[in-house]
Amino acid sequence: MNKNESKPTTTDAGCPVASDEHSLTVGCDGPILLHDHYLIEQMANFNRERIPERQPHAKGSGAFGHFEVTHDVSAYTKAAVFQPGTKTETLSRFSTVAGERGSPDTWRDPRGFSVKFYTSQGNYDMVGNNTPVFFLRDPMKFQHFIRSQKRRADNGLRDHDMQWDFWSLSPESAHQVTWLMGDRGIPKTWRHMNGYSSHTYMWVNAAGERFWVKYHFKTDQGIDFLTQADADRLAGTDGDYHRRDLYNAIKSGDHPSWSLKVQIMPFEEAKTYRLNPFDLTKVWPHADYPLQDVGKLTLNRNPTDFHTEIEQAAFEPNNLVPGIGISPDKMLLGRMFAYADAHRHRLGVNYKQIPVNAPQCPVFSYSKDGQGRTQNVSDPVYAPNSKGGPAADGERYPESATWSADGEFIRAAYTLRQDDDDFSQAGTLVRDVMDEKQRDRLVSNVVGHLKGLVFEPVLERALEYWSNIDKNIGARIRKGVADA
Ligand code: HEM
Repeated sequence: MNKNESKPTTTDAGCPVASDEHSLTVGCDGPILLHDHYLIEQMANFNRERIPERQPHAKGSGAFGHFEVTHDVSAYTKAAVFQPGTKTETLSRFSTVAGERGSPDTWRDPRGFSVKFYTSQGNYDMVGNNTPVFFLRDPMKFQHFIRSQKRRADNGLRDHDMQWDFWSLSPESAHQVTWLMGDRGIPKTWRHMNGYSSHTYMWVNAAGERFWVKYHFKTDQGIDFLTQADADRLAGTDGDYHRRDLYNAIKSGDHPSWSLKVQIMPFEEAKTYRLNPFDLTKVWPHADYPLQDVGKLTLNRNPTDFHTEIEQAAFEPNNLVPGIGISPDKMLLGRMFAYADAHRHRLGVNYKQIPVNAPQCPVFSYSKDGQGRTQNVSDPVYAPNSKGGPAADGERYPESATWSADGEFIRAAYTLRQDDDDFSQAGTLVRDVMDEKQRDRLVSNVVGHLKGLVFEPVLERALEYWSNIDKNIGARIRKGVADA
């Protein structure tokens, strides 16, 4: 293209500039002039390019797509997004948890699985992982857990001894650690993993009846994994392996999809079920609560600006719509605060006006002013008012996703039920779900994680932890570490 036909460079204010290459100087060899506004704008903008990374889940990527309802679940929820035939635009983001923004995609870690549904009733965010359970059941321990997975204070290194110190002193982590040390700990690609709400949520139907629900997004590409050796090699040769894979698949028209299925528990059954259905370290056995089909999530559009569409994406489990609510899961209750607070810090108070976070339905909010606001506010700026401003409609949108609770203020664990021990579901996973080859890889992964990197007294506690999960696996891991 002839230079004169190309778009002329301008300042951020749209004013044409004279040169992309030369600062304004006093003669060819003289000093640079302070009034070279364009040079200063370029330097100042550059210095402010990086925003804080997400505290956990810093490394990831995502894509746009849609969710289409294929089966009628209106008996359980009135949410518009799950009504028969509804198709909703979505944004998904996948991530590792502990690594920084530039860390390798193939480190062993749970993977984040976030979906933002731009529904007709406001944004609904499902912020889950590629595992159906989590390491903890009380949000008080979350910050400590993440610190133990990240870097030491003294040398800035990640440290297996620190990780196992925390895990072996937190036996409720056993189920998730077993998932993590098995094949699910390093998916082949993000396309080859499932997504789970992990938490129990509430669904409310049009008649006001309440149900407990767990989400399972089953990959239509099939589950696949990387061996530790392949993952280590890729960490050195292509740290962005998963990000590249998703981008290239979508670019070439190979659109990944997931089938959404749910487990549903009648409201009253939660009170007497043999395990606490709100304990995030437990699954609900499928024999008791089988999977029911809901619809299909398809990713078909790559971002065109990674920063504005992925880095500035703000997922928050508190984004709920009529017909969907939370549950007494203490971790979920803690998350109701954490995300919006993180976004205000990372992106500023008006982060919901960044286009990728903005709902695709009208907003009638009384929020006003603040840094970075782009949408105009109009009078009246207060409620109640007699000036025609928005008014909450409690009859149409009642506070219906609720439950009753009673008791003294107390700091304590959940009341224990018959099947609420820390190790038995992890043991079932090892014995009944994994096959012999998967168990061999589990042993090899754990031995590789422990040997030479974890020291007494933590090492002995870690070995006992595995014996508590399964005597046989515990013995094999003990021998593997001793022989190493
Ligand atoms: C990201 C807090 C538990 C899944 C985050 C972020 C925070 C956070 C502060 C960063 C948000 C941002 O800066 O954009 C917490 C707390 C938890 C908790 C306090 C428990 C008390 C969980 C659980 C899951 C989960 C149980 C999965 C079931 C995610 C995902 C992201 C994330 C997927 C990344 C979201 C994205 O793609 O942008 N969490 N989290 N978190 N968390 Fe949690």
